[in-house]
Amino acid sequence: MLEIIFSGKKTSKIKVICVSEGNRINSIHLSKEENAMLQKKADENCFCGTVGSIMDICRIKDRILVLGVGKSPTEVQIQTAGAGLYSKLLKSEKALILVEPIKSSKLSDEQIAHNLAFGLLLGSYRFDKYFTRKKPEDYPTLEQIIFNVKNPEKTNKNFKHYIALANAVRYGRDLCNEPANHLTPAIFADDIKRLEYLGLEVEILGQQELKEHNFNLLLSVAQGSQQEPKVAIIKWRGKPNSNQWDLGLVGKGVTFDSGGISIKPASGMEDMKQDMTGAAVVVSSLKALALQCAPENVIGVVGLVENMPSGTATHPGDIVTSMSGQTVEIINTDAEGRLVLADCLWFIQQQYGVKKIIDIATLTGATMRALGEEYAGLFSNNDTLAKDLIIAGDKSGEKLWRLPINKGYDKKINSDIADMKNIGGSLAGGSTAACFLQRYIKEDTKWAHLDIAGVDKENTGKPICPKGATAFGIRLLNHFILNNLN
Ligand code: BES
Ligand code: MN
Ligand code: ZN
Repeated sequence: MLEIIFSGKKTSKIKVICVSEGNRINSIHLSKEENAMLQKKADENCFCGTVGSIMDICRIKDRILVLGVGKSPTEVQIQTAGAGLYSKLLKSEKALILVEPIKSSKLSDEQIAHNLAFGLLLGSYRFDKYFTRKKPEDYPTLEQIIFNVKNPEKTNKNFKHYIALANAVRYGRDLCNEPANHLTPAIFADDIKRLEYLGLEVEILGQQELKEHNFNLLLSVAQGSQQEPKVAIIKWRGKPNSNQWDLGLVGKGVTFDSGGISIKPASGMEDMKQDMTGAAVVVSSLKALALQCAPENVIGVVGLVENMPSGTATHPGDIVTSMSGQTVEIINTDAEGRLVLADCLWFIQQQYGVKKIIDIATLTGATMRALGEEYAGLFSNNDTLAKDLIIAGDKSGEKLWRLPINKGYDKKINSDIADMKNIGGSLAGGSTAACFLQRYIKEDTKWAHLDIAGVDKENTGKPICPKGATAFGIRLLNHFILNNLN
């Protein structure tokens, strides 16, 4: 990973200065002549310092990049600007960023430096392990970014939080970008087990234990596949004196979703290797908490299965008794995510007495079509929890839009011959799926469901995330956990 250093250093061959919008260029780090020269260039190029804009001045002996930081940017905007800077610097080895206050902004120098650096760490993410023919000159060479700040030691200490989060996001993206032949439920489970070195407690349930615990809906999804299903339980105890869980996280980890016997069309099916994003986000969120030594008790449960058609696969019409005892008529084997989640939701409440739960899943095409790539869908039985999550989304840049659940949507999943069926017809698919999940939530459990089907993949490539997996939700959940629990 790119090395970030905070120091008092002032000179370098490549310098970046930050300029607020609407002000003349007058950096405290440059000479009068240099400032005048840059202002002249800015006038010629209509550069006025809007957040993320960059003016690149190459001279014989050095190079100065002028980074616009806007008038009163948000932390997310500064992160995006930092990420944009990465593409300008990637062919260098080192660069020095000279930080100074933004005149009409509440952000401190330290916050500006931290958010620029965080953006650089996310923007530098690449998934290139499967290239064998790429030449060395095709890879980025940037190794080190130095920030000039007033109090390097303190700035460095407080950066631990961001490094941890960047690490977690990069780990999550790696998991999601792995194809299904390289990330089976068993391999995923092994990977999670390895996180114990961070102080997380990890328990893996295999086929036998899943049978003993009656994970029957989850097993019905797995039964068409050659891959053994797994459930991972990951615990972070940041409050050693309390044995109560402040929060439970539940993630959908379908390592490949072919649809099963209700098979999906060929076009785009390869994207279904990412149907385990919810699980990756849960695991990465716990990793972040461990790296941050966060003072909370959080437990995660992820259901890892592959959904495949075969002679042993679930038939449409099969009726299965869930762990909760409720029966489900499986009308469509492609509505498998809710089956996996239902048993995991019941398990985490029953086994661990968790009273506040967030589940996260690439659950429905309906939510994807409704909200596109802008927002993930939020469904909740609790207004305070929903409000806090929406705020965490806005602050982290992973935005949520609340969608409804009610008795009317719930009625759509009543079955003629079992307690419920697993699809609710062609309308409001996100809401009927959420109502299905709610049938596995106890009366006194505060619960929110995040449907990330539309936001799990970056299709065009952005500064903050190249094409491929976004691992959407890690920053959002981290913000929520650190600011809204207790
Ligand atoms: N994993 C899919 C949802 C999905 C679709 C995620 C597109 C990401 C992008 C889920 O298991 C699924 O197949 N849902 C079906 C449900 C339907 C059969 C009721 C859907 O939404 O089409
Ligand atoms: Mn499906
Ligand atoms: Zn799925």
